[in-house]
Amino acid sequence: MESGQVQTSTIYQPVQEDLLQVEECLRQVGEVAQPYLAGPLKHILARSGKRLRPALCLLVGKCYDYNLEVLVPVATGVELLHTATLVHDDSVDNALVRRGVPTINSLWGSGVAVLVGDYLFAKAASLVSAVKIPRVMSLFAQTLMAISSGELAQNFAAFNVSISRHQYFERIGQKTASLFALATEAGAVVSQAPEADIKAFRDYGYSLGLAFQIIDDILDYTGQETELGKPTGNDLSQGTITLPAIIFGESHPQPNPVTAFVEHRDDQAYLERAVAAVCHPAIIEKCYAIAGSFCSQACAALPPIPAPVRHSLVELCHLVLKRQK
Ligand code: IPE
Ligand code: IPE
Ligand code: MG
Ligand code: MG
Repeated sequence: MESGQVQTSTIYQPVQEDLLQVEECLRQVGEVAQPYLAGPLKHILARSGKRLRPALCLLVGKCYDYNLEVLVPVATGVELLHTATLVHDDSVDNALVRRGVPTINSLWGSGVAVLVGDYLFAKAASLVSAVKIPRVMSLFAQTLMAISSGELAQNFAAFNVSISRHQYFERIGQKTASLFALATEAGAVVSQAPEADIKAFRDYGYSLGLAFQIIDDILDYTGQETELGKPTGNDLSQGTITLPAIIFGESHPQPNPVTAFVEHRDDQAYLERAVAAVCHPAIIEKCYAIAGSFCSQACAALPPIPAPVRHSLVELCHLVLKRQK
């Protein structure tokens, strides 16, 4: 791995060429006649993210009956579901930049962001329903319900510093891990994996997703905006209490710099003091250790599969822990 760089190419290698089909499917989503729709769609689809979720879907499929006619639309649907949640999330979080470019809400307003997100959700559903596997359609629906519920839970818990680790894990399980679990479970289902392997891949995806969100929450405190392509320091300023702030709270009786910020949430100086306190190396190290243990759980869940894919899925765990963007 290059230092500080997410190096996905070797991990994606077993499915690299097939991911190009997913790219092409995503590009076609923006090819609509209506200019008011084409504008925002092309804007959001032009800047590629890491494509972790469709890669996971294809990698899992590679272990069984690898049928790209069903895997490509399902993997594209997973990425579209992810993209739609980002469009809505940026609107809810008042975020101005995503993947290094202005967000839809910043360019067109939050009303347009809601409608474009809805369009993307429906497009994902349309692609997935076309493969005619009701179990997969149902997984999509359940995942979207879980994500919405997790995002709502986060919203209603804003500035609540008494949230526990348990509540936090539940929330990130819903808003983030559920989508990773969908990617791996759907890949296994459409490729006709045995039931025990489907469950094992769901567990792998879920644990990896928990680790992924914990790292994201660490990077919100410690990362570089230029590298991440999205703003840092947003979580606490929006009142989102994530693992670093929870762990800080566990060892610092109130009042402390975080509770002081909650009392004076419009004062930048209080925010800066709170961020500096939470960013203590010992706290960040504890968060990394927790993310690491979820990655270990993910690897332990893997069923017996061919060595190249196993290698990719284990490496993906390492990459998630080391990522800087
Ligand atoms: C961002 O996910 C949203 C979170 C779950 C933290 P990614 O970091 O995978 O986003 P892209 O697709 O690579 O931009
Ligand atoms: C994950 O949470 C977003 C979704 C579940 C859509 P974040 O709010 O931390 O994601 P970023 O940091 O904006 O990418
Ligand atoms: Mg956000
Ligand atoms: Mg974040």
